[in-house]
Amino acid sequence: MRSHYCGALRKEHVGQEITLCGWVHRRRDHGGVIFLDVRDRDGITQVVFDPDREESFATADSVRNEYVIQLTGIVRDRPEGTINKEMPTGEIEVLGHSLIVLNKAETPPFQLDEHQSVGEDIRLKYRYVDLRRPEMLAKLRLRSKITTAIRNHLDGEGFLDIETPILTRATPEGARDYLVPSRTHANNFFALPQSPQLFKQLLMVSGMDRYYQIAKCFRDEDLRADRQPEFTQIDIEASFVSEEDIMSITEGMIRNLFKETLDVDLGAFPRMPYSEAMEKYGSDKPDMRIPLELVDVADLMTEVEFKVFSGPAKDPKGRVTALRLPKGAELTRKQIDEYTKYVGIYGAKGLAYIKVNNKDDLEEGLQAPIVKFLPIDVRKAVLERTGAENGDIIFFGADSAKVVTEALGALRCKLGEDMDLYTCAWAPLWVVDFPMFEETSDGGLTAIHHPFTAPSCTPEELKANPAAALSKAYDMVLNGCELGGGSIRIHDQTMQQAVFEILGISEEEQAEKFGFLLDALKFGAPPHGGLAFGLDRLVMLMTGSDSIREVIAFPKTQSASCMMTDAPGEVSSKQLRELNIKLRKSATEE
Ligand code: AMO
Ligand code: AMP
Repeated sequence: MRSHYCGALRKEHVGQEITLCGWVHRRRDHGGVIFLDVRDRDGITQVVFDPDREESFATADSVRNEYVIQLTGIVRDRPEGTINKEMPTGEIEVLGHSLIVLNKAETPPFQLDEHQSVGEDIRLKYRYVDLRRPEMLAKLRLRSKITTAIRNHLDGEGFLDIETPILTRATPEGARDYLVPSRTHANNFFALPQSPQLFKQLLMVSGMDRYYQIAKCFRDEDLRADRQPEFTQIDIEASFVSEEDIMSITEGMIRNLFKETLDVDLGAFPRMPYSEAMEKYGSDKPDMRIPLELVDVADLMTEVEFKVFSGPAKDPKGRVTALRLPKGAELTRKQIDEYTKYVGIYGAKGLAYIKVNNKDDLEEGLQAPIVKFLPIDVRKAVLERTGAENGDIIFFGADSAKVVTEALGALRCKLGEDMDLYTCAWAPLWVVDFPMFEETSDGGLTAIHHPFTAPSCTPEELKANPAAALSKAYDMVLNGCELGGGSIRIHDQTMQQAVFEILGISEEEQAEKFGFLLDALKFGAPPHGGLAFGLDRLVMLMTGSDSIREVIAFPKTQSASCMMTDAPGEVSSKQLRELNIKLRKSATEE
């Protein structure tokens, strides 16, 4: 139906007869001449209709925004003075000869350039209109370019693209499952995969050697800007590999991808042990663009009068840490109050601080309500350890290690963003040497990665001191975002059972939930490992978007629903009967 895309026309086409199809982006009536900006996936071209051609002029007069049209005309130079250097097609225009309305459109729910004022709910309800915006098109186009580059790269490295089931059993990745009732097996449910983890391991047992899949994953968890209930992983697994092999393959893939699609050179990724990340940056995904570090000061505070500090300083599970912000003494009381409120989100009960006006005058040169509680030698030691200069502010967190780490880690990122402290555009790194387990609130243990991750020690050592064991897991972090994570897996049945036992999964439950995996480990399982990237997060970072919803064509809202289709929805009583399901009243109705 068309000879060219609207955005493709240039000076070299001048004199040619062309046919365009697209949407009326804007219609302007300039005293006797009608201008239509016609838009398609590739861009916008200005088309002029003059009254000489009565029929097409009348049609041009009748069209409205977002009508779908087809037109034929001659490309010509724009008259002197009307050239628009901002537009790729800005040097030319089309003199329209014929014009057909392929479809009318009602007044759209919002004009494309008014998307900001209408709010995200309306954009999501009319997502097909929202996606017409060039900005959204560009994001989906880059997403497609990224998946193509990744497929090509992995194909070149000998990885096979293999699909795994969506209707399956639970795969524990730490979230709630989405369940699907079975009609043919009354009272039984499928779980949608939280990841293809178990299947990719089974593919290694089958000798596939190198697998990848761009796979949909489903997790019923609390949503945030970088999480969706349904998201996409670039999922990778390989046999006869070490951590080094997987890290080198996937780092190479990401480096190539950035070079190819953004012309950015990421360089070699540094590595950081988990313990250092938590200690210095208060996060297992440190944003290394920000040049601020947490400095522990508990040892200085054990004997101070200020109980808020001395309590956690003496408690083995406590932490007292300082965060110096250069030039922060300029912060107003109101700003400090706001940061105090901010750390409160993470459970911090306050945010003590010292403004360093004159570091050589330890009596009068330090300004803060808490200074009076700190002996002179403690003040001196704090200044030395944090490297404070005149004009700085030092913030303090004192509480359980968990609260302090999370609160000051988050404050570090917030200060970095608010004060625009970024030292570079891209800061990738690997976080390595994760512990195998972390303590749950009820005192039990849970796997930090997932229960199939291999520990760096023997089963005996693991059983003797599980809390101290490290794992062969690694996370790739970019600009404070966990892009991907993976590990070398357990390929030995005894070790797998040891881990299940530590996690408090009984033999009965092991057999019920993971019997097929434990069986497979008996039938010649090779050493293997892998990693999965969050594709949506990767695209979010590469397009500079604030949320992963911006890079997913049809995303869900924060409450995991679809504004457009109104999913999830009710089902008929017939369907429920077939599934042998009887609904109870929801909590709000009871
Ligand atoms: P993990 O659970 O760390 O590992 O997930 C891998 C990556 O997937 C992305 N991701 C998400 N993206 C959007 N919305 C979500 N709700 C969401 N949850 C996770 C993140 C994360 O780094 N099977 C293992 C991988 C492996 O061991 O090979 C797994 O799923 O970017
Ligand atoms: P207060 O004695 O409660 O008035 O607190 C004195 C200062 O210590 C205030 O600046 C509080 O914000 C701060 N503060 C209180 N609790 C904590 C805490 N757990 N960690 C860090 N600072 C705190």
